[in-house]
Amino acid sequence: MAFNVAIDGPAGAGKSSIARAAAKELGFIYVDTGALYRAVGVYGLRNGIDNKNAEAVAGMLPHISVELKFRDGVQHVYLNGEDVSEEIRTPPASMAASDVSAVPAVRQFLFDLQRDIAAKNDCIMDGRDIGTVVLPNAQVKIFLTASPEARAMRRYKELQEKGAKDTYEEVLADLLQRDYNDSHRAVAPLKPAEDSITVDNSGLSLEDSIEQVLSVIRAAL
Ligand code: DC
Repeated sequence: MAFNVAIDGPAGAGKSSIARAAAKELGFIYVDTGALYRAVGVYGLRNGIDNKNAEAVAGMLPHISVELKFRDGVQHVYLNGEDVSEEIRTPPASMAASDVSAVPAVRQFLFDLQRDIAAKNDCIMDGRDIGTVVLPNAQVKIFLTASPEARAMRRYKELQEKGAKDTYEEVLADLLQRDYNDSHRAVAPLKPAEDSITVDNSGLSLEDSIEQVLSVIRAAL
């Protein structure tokens, strides 16, 4: 049976950097499920669809295929055969992902894909509802969080490195808006699974956060 680690938490908690490093250390694959919602959101943006309109969003799904491929352990996301791994990382794509992720048909659409990967691979999968909905039987469940200010500062630095012009205040406002959307939607809202272990890494360096997560996983291996 595959060994599955579910890591959920709000935007900017460092899930992807931490999960990627921990997966590498353990020889597991790292699955970033946010990329799937982002790809759906990008399709909406490209086609001028109102991503807040559930009916319009559900209507675009028959025209979409989303795939994940792993090359040298690195995940690539494909939208209708095109690698959109870069395009999904812009701030508009983040908001679009949060919008489409509130639509039940989208969650249903992406469910089997996530389940199949986890059934076949030892993996660390991160997202918002992995421990609660997608992999309720994961051997390890971690809820990774940090204060909004710490999370916004990390995102802001990442964006600056890419040359983006967004201010810290904009990034914080965006993040608070997404936190609200993600934890107040009716389906699969962001919340810790009852049997999850919470790791708050507000004051921790990346290295220490990785160590902390690895020690939780190793204790269960
Ligand atoms: O993890 P991320 O920032 O790439 O996720 C983008 C959006 O997708 C996020 O605002 C909420 C949504 N999402 C979700 O609803 N469920 C998941 N498992 C992963 C992401």
